[in-house]
Amino acid sequence: MLTKAPRGTYDILPEESRRWQYLENIIKEAAELYGYREIRTPIFEHTELFERGVGDSTDIVSKEMYTFTDKADRSLTLRPEGTACCVRALIEHNLYNGVLPVKWFYFGPMFRYDRPQKGRYRQFHQFGVEAFGSRSPYLDAEVIMLLVEILARTGLKEYDLHLNSVGCPICRESYRQELIKYIVPHQERLCNDCKVRYQNNPLRVLDCKQPECQKSIEGHPTLFDYLCPDCHEHYAQVKNYLQENQISFQHDDKLVRGLDYYTNTAFEVHIPGIGAQSAIGGGGRYDGLVEACGGPKLPGIGFAMGMERILLALEQAGINPSLVQNQIVFVVAMNEQYLSPAVKLVKQLRDAGISAEMDYNARSARAQMKHADKLNASLVVLLGEDEIEGGFVTIRNMSNKEQHQVGLAQAVEFINTLLASC
Ligand code: HAM
Repeated sequence: MLTKAPRGTYDILPEESRRWQYLENIIKEAAELYGYREIRTPIFEHTELFERGVGDSTDIVSKEMYTFTDKADRSLTLRPEGTACCVRALIEHNLYNGVLPVKWFYFGPMFRYDRPQKGRYRQFHQFGVEAFGSRSPYLDAEVIMLLVEILARTGLKEYDLHLNSVGCPICRESYRQELIKYIVPHQERLCNDCKVRYQNNPLRVLDCKQPECQKSIEGHPTLFDYLCPDCHEHYAQVKNYLQENQISFQHDDKLVRGLDYYTNTAFEVHIPGIGAQSAIGGGGRYDGLVEACGGPKLPGIGFAMGMERILLALEQAGINPSLVQNQIVFVVAMNEQYLSPAVKLVKQLRDAGISAEMDYNARSARAQMKHADKLNASLVVLLGEDEIEGGFVTIRNMSNKEQHQVGLAQAVEFINTLLASC
């Protein structure tokens, strides 16, 4: 128990961590290019924020939240997603009064008590963007284009972008009535959760993960058929702007998202073949959410991508990001009494921005050379009796085995020049 991370969580070890950094950098550059700036919000929030924001009949809120009471009896929840957190921050700092749209991006761990499997964890990481303050379908298209830009920069080519409109509260109400009528004769075959929630929120039955629920409502009417003229027009414009910009997508009138806040545009990106959890990202418009969370009437749109799932997809596609590793210089003290000048040299190298390592135990020269090899050091600097007495260092280029002897005072500068050609 003590030596195992909790179920659904895992460590990102240093080798793996470099893949993450590479991916994060690519994504961050793309987001900034599109004018999004980073926001960092707390990892836990008041539980009520998610109940109101995400919706209490969703699976996320009703089954998957990590909720706890703190010592002052407040109910807090580890964030299961980032949108509600951004909405809370926007309202708290009155940012809706400034320049609109407000465009944010974020990275970070999210927490859902879900059944762990490949691509599905209890602590997972999302990259997300949120844009507040414009109802323009151009903004919908921009957000989707950013998602596509990110995928292009990762090198992922095989993916499906599903697009739908889930309408506004007005068209949704007439659909809700029709859907309830459709579900009633099948209600006995629904899972226990859906038996209860279909009355209030029949849309949740549509994205229930239980196969028997999906089977019982096969052939159900789709929301798309109930869209009002305004929602149709908005959707038509989004599709048009995407087409004008050569973004391929497929209209999917079965696409309903698992969170309650969506209005109009909804989208998801799937990668076939990465397993049951093929959605690597999803999002949409949420024009009523800011108001529902106690803020002004302010529209919003955004998406989030699962970082683990993107990394899985990259692995599957055989894309191994070529990471530029820091060049390492390994300083070998041939004898314990040369440790002190070696430490000094390591410090001088690091001060000059060169990544330097040494062995503080001054093991045999052979053992230290092996250590340098394992670290993939580009250069090894030898400090032995001759060197210390003569006031110089011996530098070995580990790739061509050439050796150079250089005065101690010129060593850092020489190493710097030599590294450039390694
Ligand atoms: P979501 O669809 O719940 O949307 O999550 C977005 C992405 O997070 C998914 O497509 C998936 O890649 C990843 N993900 C979700 N759950 C897990 C899990 N248990 N393990 C691994 N990856 C997971 C949202 O969270 C919305 N906040 C997106 C959004 C932003 N909508 C508007 N703005």
